[in-house]
Parts: sequence; structure tokens; C-alpha cells
Amino acid sequence: MRVISGLQPSGTLHLGNYLAALKPSVDLVVNAEESIVPIVDLHSLTTIHDKERLQHLRFEALKDCLAVGIDPVKTILFFQSDVAAHSQLLWILSTVCSTGLLDRAVSYKEKVQKGIAASVGLYTYPVLMAADILLYHADTVPVGQDQKQHVEITRDIAVRFNSIFGEIFTLPNELIQKELAIIPGTDGQKMSKSYGNTIPLFAPQKEIEKAIMGIVTDSRGKDDPKDPETCVIYLIHKHIISVDDAKELAAEYKNGLPYGEAKKRLLNDYVAYFADCSAKRALLTDDMLNDIAKDGAARANAIASATLQTVYTAVGL
Ligand code: TRP
Repeated sequence: MRVISGLQPSGTLHLGNYLAALKPSVDLVVNAEESIVPIVDLHSLTTIHDKERLQHLRFEALKDCLAVGIDPVKTILFFQSDVAAHSQLLWILSTVCSTGLLDRAVSYKEKVQKGIAASVGLYTYPVLMAADILLYHADTVPVGQDQKQHVEITRDIAVRFNSIFGEIFTLPNELIQKELAIIPGTDGQKMSKSYGNTIPLFAPQKEIEKAIMGIVTDSRGKDDPKDPETCVIYLIHKHIISVDDAKELAAEYKNGLPYGEAKKRLLNDYVAYFADCSAKRALLTDDMLNDIAKDGAARANAIASATLQTVYTAVGL
């Protein structure tokens, strides 16, 4: 299995996107025989036109990958923009991709509806993603439901290219992450940056504490029995402890565990759960990050430029 998982540097990691999206992909990447993780900074240009912000976010994304357990020796971890073949293959693929195929892309329409500028780049976003995948002959792409169509588009483009120029590209398959329970935010709605209800992963303890202490609760008195299944503190807490510990904790809620105490326990377990990751992240220096990115780009480039050469030859360039 050769797994590819692209990570878009688009903002600060929080518990919701870590548990629902990042962790399942990282688990697969870590266990795969071969794995490729591009930080897709060229894709980010479809939504971020702010030099300092992009510079900052792409390195944050690299740190996040390393902190959550991606091993840069085993995995080819690199910045997409460091490997020119991604942009070059995008062009070739765009000449065999019909506009009809892209017109059917749901995520483009959704993004435009949300107010993102309808640029040519946003429109051809799926073709760049196809280039990311096809350059490495990846066979497995772990994605959430929202990215399934993009992998289908990749396959359609690969089939069309192969039918014209010969069997060059491996057809990739999406591996849909099973729907994790939706992680609630501090206000009880789905945890999402746009609702301002997130608990950050790697932030000063004060900020994490502020978020956790701000979790909404009902008006039950200090020693009244509580209902864990409707309590947001518990519904968040159960994701970072074992099933047995969650059962015990639920029993304590029913016996009247005060909400203030429940929040303190969540904070303790939260900090402990991410302690190793945070420690690893704190040790990363700019020099280390630059070395890792450089090494990853060199290894990615060796594969990608060979594929591109085959493609150029096949099309007559
Ligand atoms: N579009 C993907 C997302 O938003 C990111 C991505 C870009 C990607 N290129 C990729 C994912 C290649 C997997 C493989 O999540």
C-alpha cells in the first residue's frame, strides 16, 4: 500500500479536526508500508492571500505533522511547492480534464457559496490534487467524506489520460474514514473554527484552561445527579480516555460529580493526552524543520520528476 495524505495548512489545530480528520489519516500513514504527506501549500493559495499568514501556517502544519507522530524518515513529508512537478503535471492533466467534470465538483460550489473568490485556481483545485496523487502512483488516499469526489475526479482524469497515452498512472482508491462521532465544541454545537467553540491542541495551558472552564453546562446543582449523555464536558472527555475509564466517569456524573470538578479532570486528562505531542513540538527548531522539509522535498522530487518525465515522453514533449 502506498498511501498519500495531503494536509492543507489552513489554521490552528483543535480537538475536533484532530480527532475527526487528522488522527485517522495519521494512523494509516504511520502503519502503511510507504507513505507520502505533502503539505499542500499551493492549494492554500486558493483561500489565503497573505504572505505572513501563509508563511506561518505552512510551518505550523509541518510542526503539527511531526508532533502527532509522523516519522519524517519513514514518511516522505514535504511542502508541495518545493516540488515543481506538481504544478507541471497540473497543466498536462488539465488538458485532458473536461470542464464538465469540474463543473460537477460540489466542494467548488460550496466554497464559492461561503464567499471564497471563484478563481480559476479554486476551479482547478481538484486537478492539482489529482497531480499530487498521480505523481507518486499512490494507490490509497485516506479522506473524509467531503473529499471522496476529488479522488473520483482523480481516477476519471487518470483513466482518460491512460486511454489516450497508455497505461501510465495507477488508479487510486479513496479510503473513507468511518464517521467518528461529531466532537462537540464548548457550546455543545459541532466543534468548528467558524463557531468559535474550539479547544486548541497546542496552545499555552492558560488558553486550554479558559476554553475548558467555559464549557456550557445546565443548571443542575453542585451535588445533583448529572446526565453524562447530555453533558458537553463528558461528551468531549470520553474521546480522550479508555472505554472503561469513560464508564467509571459516567457513573460518577450520575452520583453527582460537580461540573467544576468534572472540568478540572477533563483539563488534567487533556493536558496528559497531548503531553508527548506538545513536548515533541516544543523541541522543533527552525533548523530542524528546514532540514526535514529539504530532505522530504528531495525524496519526493526523485519520484515526481521521474513520473513527469514519463508523462512528457508519452505526450510527445
Ligand atoms: N483537498 C484535500 C483536503 O482539503 C487536501 C489535499 C490536497 C489532498 N492534495 C491531496 C489529500 C492529495 C489527499 C491527497 O483535505
